[in-house]
Amino acid sequence: MVNNWTANNIPDQSGRVAMVTGANSGLGYESSRELARKGATVIMACRNPQKAERAKAQILAEIPNAQLHLMALDLGRLASVHAFVEAFRSQYDRLDILLNNAGVMAIPQTTTEDGFEMQMAVNYYGHFVLTARLFDLIVNRPHSRIVNLSSVVQYGASIQFDDLNWERNYSRWGVYGQTKLAMTVFANELDRRLKSANIENTRALSAHPGFSITNLQGTSADASGHKGEAWAFKYVIPHLGQSQEMGALPQLYAATSSDAMGGKFYGPRWWARGYPAECPQTPAARRVEDWRKLWERTEELTQTPFNVSA
Ligand SMILES: NC(=O)c1ccc[n+]([C@@H]2O[C@H](COP(=O)([O-])OP(=O)(O)OC[C@H]3O[C@@H](n4cnc5c(N)ncnc54)[C@H](OP(=O)(O)O)[C@@H]3O)[C@@H](O)[C@H]2O)c1
Repeated sequence: MVNNWTANNIPDQSGRVAMVTGANSGLGYESSRELARKGATVIMACRNPQKAERAKAQILAEIPNAQLHLMALDLGRLASVHAFVEAFRSQYDRLDILLNNAGVMAIPQTTTEDGFEMQMAVNYYGHFVLTARLFDLIVNRPHSRIVNLSSVVQYGASIQFDDLNWERNYSRWGVYGQTKLAMTVFANELDRRLKSANIENTRALSAHPGFSITNLQGTSADASGHKGEAWAFKYVIPHLGQSQEMGALPQLYAATSSDAMGGKFYGPRWWARGYPAECPQTPAARRVEDWRKLWERTEELTQTPFNVSA
């Protein structure tokens, strides 16, 4: 791995199609901008059209020749995920990079129209369905990548298989941790299935940004109304963490570097901050029987079969 890898190290992406969920702010915005700077056509999959337009204009002001395509996606609604996939497929016949980035953190208990807990829906189920339904456009594309956004919170998390949507004893941080662990587990199982099917072109991996100052913390504090957390997000995290430019590097590394390997987990070298490095995975993220179990439960709950074959 290159020491102190930065966005300048992203190889030329001309002719490649990249999709970034939650592309209008924070790490998704940074990732879209840097992929576009290197020549990729970037599908900015966003929930809010006004915010998406603003983000696109901001990137174009810096990179006038950026190839950006805004598309509407609300990951909290499976109907929206399916409509998004249909719209994408009607315009594109391939996808080289899928960056499953969008997320919400520790919001109060909310149930989606599909009957799922909201954080699980946005951070995990929506991305599972999106990936499953786009898979045939990605598989066999040379050097294609599927990158799932996780977090250091996965280190203290577990998956409640008997209550995946936390209907009993809701804990907003507990669910957040579960969603982020699930994203690494999902990447690990996808990687395992890719390797079993002898698919060498596509790699599945996960990444985390450390602590990075984005809208995530403000959105969370506004939704929960928790004053202590709002204070910590405002006065503590900025000292421990790093800019969103730095925070986006691990996911960009995972999405583009030939050194980034399937089934690995990348984050900042110093846990909360630093240049990209490979990170250890907890025993909870490494239990192969849990990978399969989560995959099958998710197929069932979302009614989305996900067949991994060339
Ligand atoms: N920042 C950190 O320190 C940190 C640490 C660990 C992990 N992460 C992970 O990094 C990822 C990116 O977060 P960020 O820090 O860049 O936060 P952010 O600035 O708040 O960006 C989150 C993005 O997700 C989008 N989003 C939220 N709900 C959505 C939905 N229902 N459908 C589609 N998009 C939706 C948001 O759209 P709106 O603008 O419309 O809300 C926004 O574009 C998340 O998965 C987060 O868990 C961040």
